[in-house]
Amino acid sequence: MELIDAMNWRYAAKKMNGQRVSPEKIDTILEAIRLSASSVGLQPYTVLVIDNHELKGRIHELACPQPQVVEGSHLLVFASWTGMNATQVDDYMKLVAETRGVTVESLTPFADSVKGNLFSKTEEELNNWAARQSYIALGSALIAAATEQVDATPMEGFNAEALDALLDLPAKGLHSVSLLALGYRDATKDFLSSAPKVRRARKDLFIELA
Ligand SMILES: Cc1cc2nc3c(=O)[nH]c(=O)nc-3n(C[C@H](O)[C@H](O)[C@H](O)COP(=O)(O)O)c2cc1C
Repeated sequence: MELIDAMNWRYAAKKMNGQRVSPEKIDTILEAIRLSASSVGLQPYTVLVIDNHELKGRIHELACPQPQVVEGSHLLVFASWTGMNATQVDDYMKLVAETRGVTVESLTPFADSVKGNLFSKTEEELNNWAARQSYIALGSALIAAATEQVDATPMEGFNAEALDALLDLPAKGLHSVSLLALGYRDATKDFLSSAPKVRRARKDLFIELA
């Protein structure tokens, strides 16, 4: 589907019909997340891909309870890194070196600059920075899902602390930031499926400085 048509087609479905999303389409959406941009390329988040009805049921109870969590096919949990450390930056530098065929030593100025920038932040600032990066990946997933004609509902309406505990995220250095239900809209039960999209006019959204 063409990009703007897909963006017009998509909406945050409130009711889904339980239909499965094919593994190929899920793969495409996950690959779009993997290829998403992030500050300095660090990708300071992990995405949990949940395809287990019982677990989705338990998450549903912590998410207001929003029907899409159980009516969707797959549920993604975007969890950002907490308490980041220099080893994670070093691991990233090793990946850059391996991927681009350069030495880790040649990346020392880059590594020092990244560490200087990140670790001058307070822990709270650093955690917020990581969470913000995860939203870029969420946005990539939304666009990828739309082009695949898969419905995708982003959600912040859940109890993050309770979800962290359920999924044992603190022990993994993670904190849940957002959810994304992937599935297919139930147009018969969701009046929003045919509601016009509400967006600010271009003249109000953009300031053009030519
Ligand atoms: C970060 C974020 C969190 C959201 N949280 C929820 C949510 O918890 N439940 C829900 O039904 N929709 C949620 N939405 C969907 C928005 O309400 C929706 O995207 C917005 O109203 C624009 O409408 P549209 O996406 O349907 O075109 C969220 C969207 C974003 C981007």
